[in-house]
Amino acid sequence: MRKKVVVGNWKMNKTVTEAGELVSAILEQLGDCLVGCEVGVAPAFPALTEVGKVIERSDIRLVAQNCHYEDDGAYTGEVSVRMLESLGCAYVIVGHSERRQYFGETNRTVNLRLRKALAEGMQVIMCVGETLEEREGGVTDEVVTEQVKEGLEGVGDLGGVVLAYEPVWAIGTGKTATPEQAEEVHVSIRATIRDMYGDIAAEHLRIQYGGSVKPSNAVELFAMPNIDGGLIGGASLKAEDFVAIVKAAG
Ligand code: 13P
Repeated sequence: MRKKVVVGNWKMNKTVTEAGELVSAILEQLGDCLVGCEVGVAPAFPALTEVGKVIERSDIRLVAQNCHYEDDGAYTGEVSVRMLESLGCAYVIVGHSERRQYFGETNRTVNLRLRKALAEGMQVIMCVGETLEEREGGVTDEVVTEQVKEGLEGVGDLGGVVLAYEPVWAIGTGKTATPEQAEEVHVSIRATIRDMYGDIAAEHLRIQYGGSVKPSNAVELFAMPNIDGGLIGGASLKAEDFVAIVKAAG
């Protein structure tokens, strides 16, 4: 039985003070419901320290939104895995579609980041997903399979990996994939993992869904057998909505 994992990706939102307030409200509203699923929050880099302090004695995981693949050096604007580790991050997100779309990330750079994080002992959430054009062109499976294969190239053990299926057309648009549409892709991703790593690894791998998850659709999405939680954008910026989604995951 896979433990569901729900992570709030705050993207480029919230000042340090606002981030502290948001995570405090989440913690307060969650009360003792942290037993059922794993919960994480991914504030922007400047707020990691503050949010880390607030959740220090809780079960909420601190998650970073990106990392670089070198240890250190002349990479202006980038952040290394060791820096994130020193702030208490348990997970880092790599390959978010916004990184791919606006910042030139490719399957290869996603793979480098993922491998660096794993080598440093950090868990990784790797995002994959097709654009609207790709879905309409009937190449969803092809695109997602390639992202999974190339993103995981050279990775021998999936122990520290979570995948997130985020159809680009469903991100921030209010258009959620139907539970059936999402499940279909999750099944296909799991089949790819089975081919690459075998039955046991495929059964253990957690695959989150992301894209306009809200309190009103979370229950039906999380009820699908291959959807193991969610990566939540907009709805994670409101404590009440995020907590409702966490509770929907059990
Ligand atoms: P929304 O929930 O705002 O659609 O964003 C999803 C997402 O990109 C999470 O990483």
